[in-house]
Amino acid sequence: MKKQNKPNPKTVQIDAHVVDNQNRTMTTNDGVPIHDNNNTLKAGERGPSLLEDFIYQDKLAHFDRERIPERVVHARGSGAHGVFEATADMSKYTRAKFLQKGTVTPLFTRFSTVAGFKGSTDLARDVRGFSVKFYTEEGNYDLVGNNIPVFFIQDAMQFPDVVHAVKPEPDKEIPQAASAHDTFWDFISLMPESAHMSLWVMSDRAIPRSLRMMEGFGVHTFKFINDQGKATFVKFHWKPKLGVHQVAWQEAQKISGYDADFHRRDLWEAIDNGDFPQWDLGVQLIPEEDEMKYSFDILDPTKIIPEELVPVQIIGTMTLNRNPENFFAETEQIAFDPGRLVPGIDFSNDPLLQGRVFSYADTQNYRLGGPNFHELPINRPVNGKYNNQKDGFHRTDVLKGNVSYFPNSLGGGCPYHAMLKGEKGFESHAEKIDAKKIRERSTSFADHFTQARLFFNSQSEAEQQHIISAFSFELSKVNSVAVRRRELAILNQIDKKLANGVGKNLGIDPPQQLDELTLQFARQNHPNYPIKPNKP
Ligand code: HEM
Repeated sequence: MKKQNKPNPKTVQIDAHVVDNQNRTMTTNDGVPIHDNNNTLKAGERGPSLLEDFIYQDKLAHFDRERIPERVVHARGSGAHGVFEATADMSKYTRAKFLQKGTVTPLFTRFSTVAGFKGSTDLARDVRGFSVKFYTEEGNYDLVGNNIPVFFIQDAMQFPDVVHAVKPEPDKEIPQAASAHDTFWDFISLMPESAHMSLWVMSDRAIPRSLRMMEGFGVHTFKFINDQGKATFVKFHWKPKLGVHQVAWQEAQKISGYDADFHRRDLWEAIDNGDFPQWDLGVQLIPEEDEMKYSFDILDPTKIIPEELVPVQIIGTMTLNRNPENFFAETEQIAFDPGRLVPGIDFSNDPLLQGRVFSYADTQNYRLGGPNFHELPINRPVNGKYNNQKDGFHRTDVLKGNVSYFPNSLGGGCPYHAMLKGEKGFESHAEKIDAKKIRERSTSFADHFTQARLFFNSQSEAEQQHIISAFSFELSKVNSVAVRRRELAILNQIDKKLANGVGKNLGIDPPQQLDELTLQFARQNHPNYPIKPNKP
């Protein structure tokens, strides 16, 4: 028998908005019954059509506006509703209610590729987005992660550059495979900080067998804050109950040819069959006092915290148990944002994370047509939103009364904030900062190769060969020999076997030293680059 999912506060809220057209008389958007949906109003049997045909205009004017901008990145995605059940006592570390043992929280998860368009193939070699919106009793919390635990760049200022390098070139607009060849490798070969991530992307991890069989990572270090205001650094991990599985590159090519929607279909069918996918949520916890204890900087998003150093503790389980009723209303209109926090969780000072906090709400104000996207059914918090904000495009709440300011004494409006009621609400961690304003990068971010090497060495012989083949294939598509050589020089800093393997396939001897241009760019961030790494 099929497993049934129980309604939860979010699905109940969504269901209240579901419109069932079945067996209804067709109407205009104003509810006027339509007599004939096949013929425009004409003067005589053979036309012309009449301007007064408001029924035709109502239909076409809506059709003409059906498309909204796709996401600037992560446009191709698939999502589902589910629940998270917290299974560990986390009260020592965080006061987030949804993480307290036994709490069940509704959620919506969206998986995505990064570079391709909305209609691109699921099996591209690419990073996968792994976004979870928890509809908690204390508001929405978004964990907007990827299936790869590190990132290409260390500072948000460079995000538009890495995306422009990976997306189709401005002149030809020819969608290229995962890594836009010349432009992508040009950028990567000038950016040694991307070495670690590019190894993951050239590994099998970048072609998952199924969305149900991939890990997820918060990537950045965040902070848990407990009731006493004490912080603990935290890294988030999603571990799939079905295990981690990939396909080989040749398999991916075939699957893409036969069924470009393979991942989307697989997720939908599994949930539809009651075969609900599950992930455990794990955390790595680092006491605030240990911030500087490691040979790498825990604020650097190009680094993992090896599990041998800080083991992952499982704190709960996510189950995806209901497909969306409507793709556009739910999967497309959902707005994830790492800046959506709940009490008990806070940012760290990772400069990539700090920059993300601006970009998501900003793009959503544009993509979803203005400041009221929070009122779309999929984005509404289950605990309600109450404040004195008003008006704006697409406002649907009908606010009561004549007061929309604070403080007020006339009744109505929002007269309290949590502090006035002796409650806590969201409080930012009271971290002490005493610093000069600068744009430089910390030297603790300057070791770009140790963890890339660690990753390569952690792979089996077959997996290493796949990485060598992937680099060889990708670089063989690069027209510029200078770019190929520059990237080979980076690979040579990571591992000789890797560089020699790729170099042999390309017919180029890997240079021993980093390219002069790579060094010039690296020195814009670290004037004394290369800096000798601390021992791992
Ligand atoms: C989507 C910006 C880094 C994961 C997006 C979107 C923007 C964006 C503008 C589209 C959002 C929308 O239209 O709703 C940035 C910036 C970054 C950055 C400025 C760095 C400074 C990252 C990193 C991760 C990540 C490091 C992973 C940890 C995602 C995911 C989505 C996304 C998963 C898709 C969300 C969804 O499913 O709707 N990003 N991003 N991004 N980003 Fe980032």
